Amino acid sequence: MRPADNELLCRVEGEAAMGRVMRQHWLPVCMSEEVAEPDGTPLRSRLLGVDLVVFRDTKGRVGVMDERCPHRGASLAFGRNEDCGLRCLYHGWKFGVDGEIQDMASEPPDSRMKSLRHRAYPVQEAGGFVWAWLGEADAVRPFEAPAWAPTSTTRTSIVKIHAACNWAQVLEGAIDSAHSSSLHSTNMPTAQVEGSTATDTAWLRPSDDKAPRLEVQATDYGFHYAAVRRPIRDPETHAYVRTTVFIAPFTVLIPPNDQYNLAQMLVPIDDVNCMFYWVAWHPTKGISQDAWRRFCAAEVGVDLDADYRKLRNLSNNFLQDREKMKAGDFTGIVGIPAQDMAMWESMGPIADRSADHLGSSDAAIIQFRRQMAAAAKAALAGEPAIGTSGAVRHVDLASFEGVVPRESDWRAFTTRNARAAEAAE
Ligand code: FES
Ligand SMILES: [Fe+2]
Repeated sequence: MRPADNELLCRVEGEAAMGRVMRQHWLPVCMSEEVAEPDGTPLRSRLLGVDLVVFRDTKGRVGVMDERCPHRGASLAFGRNEDCGLRCLYHGWKFGVDGEIQDMASEPPDSRMKSLRHRAYPVQEAGGFVWAWLGEADAVRPFEAPAWAPTSTTRTSIVKIHAACNWAQVLEGAIDSAHSSSLHSTNMPTAQVEGSTATDTAWLRPSDDKAPRLEVQATDYGFHYAAVRRPIRDPETHAYVRTTVFIAPFTVLIPPNDQYNLAQMLVPIDDVNCMFYWVAWHPTKGISQDAWRRFCAAEVGVDLDADYRKLRNLSNNFLQDREKMKAGDFTGIVGIPAQDMAMWESMGPIADRSADHLGSSDAAIIQFRRQMAAAAKAALAGEPAIGTSGAVRHVDLASFEGVVPRESDWRAFTTRNARAAEAAE
C-alpha cells in the first residue's frame, strides 16, 4: 500500500478524511455501565482525537460534552455532577446535558455571555453502550439498532480493552480468519464437533486446516467473506465455512459458536490509540458478562486497570511464558485478545503497510484497504460516507459458521450457524 493511501486509511484526527467518514456515523463513547449512576462520577472519553466528558444527570439523562470548560479550559471531569448538571470546579460554571449553561457563578446576573452554550453532542443508548454524534449538528442521521443488538432485550456481554495502536490494524485482525488457526490455536483446538463449540475455556473447531481459501464479496455496507477450510470429518464432500461481515466503518460480525454470536467494534480514540470492544450476544441466553470477561482474560482489576489498559502489555512482553510454549501452548500469552494485542501493537503505532507481502489468505485485508482508502477519498470529495445509504438493515446481517456440503453457496447463508440452519429444515 502506498504511504499516502495508508495515511488516508489510518488518520482520523482533525480534518483527516477517515475522521470525516467516522463523523457520519454514530460512535460508541463508552459502555453504559461506566456512567450507570445518576449524579455519579463523570467519565473521560476520547474519540477521533476529541477529549470528551460523559455524565449521567440527576434525571438519568446522559450528556457527552467537550471535556474542557468553555470559560478557561479546566477539565469538567473534575466537576460536581448534581442538580441536573455538571459544575466546573474552577469558577463554578454549570452545564446541562445539552450544553446549556445553567449558571455562571463568576459573572454578574446581566452578563451578555449568558447566551453562550458549551459544545454537547447528540446521545443515544443502545446495546449496553452510550453513542454520540460527532458530526455536523444539522446532519444527524437516525440512530440504527446495531447488527449485534437487534432488540432492546438482546443479551449483550462486552469486553473492553484499550489498544495502543491505530484502529485500522486492529480492524484488520478482526477480518483476518487465517490468524485464528495459528495465533489462537491453543484456545481453538481441533475436535470432533459439528461446528465451533464453546466451553468455559476454549472454542473447539471441526477443522485443523491452517490455510483457508477466502472468497470476498463487496456490498453496499462494506463486504462479507467466507473462509473455507477442510473439515476433519467428510473432507471429500464437505467444507468448514466461516463467514465474516464488515460493516463500514468499524464494526465486524465474526463467526458465532454454538452458544453465542460475536461482534467487534474498533473505535478510534486518536491516530495511535483505539478502543477494542468485543460483544458476545444472544437473543435470550448467551454468556454472562462476568463469564465473558473471564473467558477473554479481560477483567478489570485482574487483567486490566480501571481505564481498560492492559496489565500484560508491550512493556512487559505480555508476560509471555516460554516454558508454557515448550509444554505445548502456542503463544505463551494468556487470553485471546492479549494474543491479538501483542501482534497488533508490535506492528507499531501506525502499521507501515508499504512493506507487506500479502498472500491469498489476505484477500479480505486487501478488500478492506482498497475499499476504505476509496471511502476516505470520497469523503474528501464531499460525497456521503460509506455505509450511510441505509439500503441494508444492519439487524438483517449475520455471520455464519458450520460444516456444509462443498457445493453450498455461502453468500446465501443468513442463519447464524449451521445447526440453527439444520434445525430450521
Ligand atoms: S474554567 Fe470552568 S468555570 Fe472557569
Ligand atoms: Fe484474533
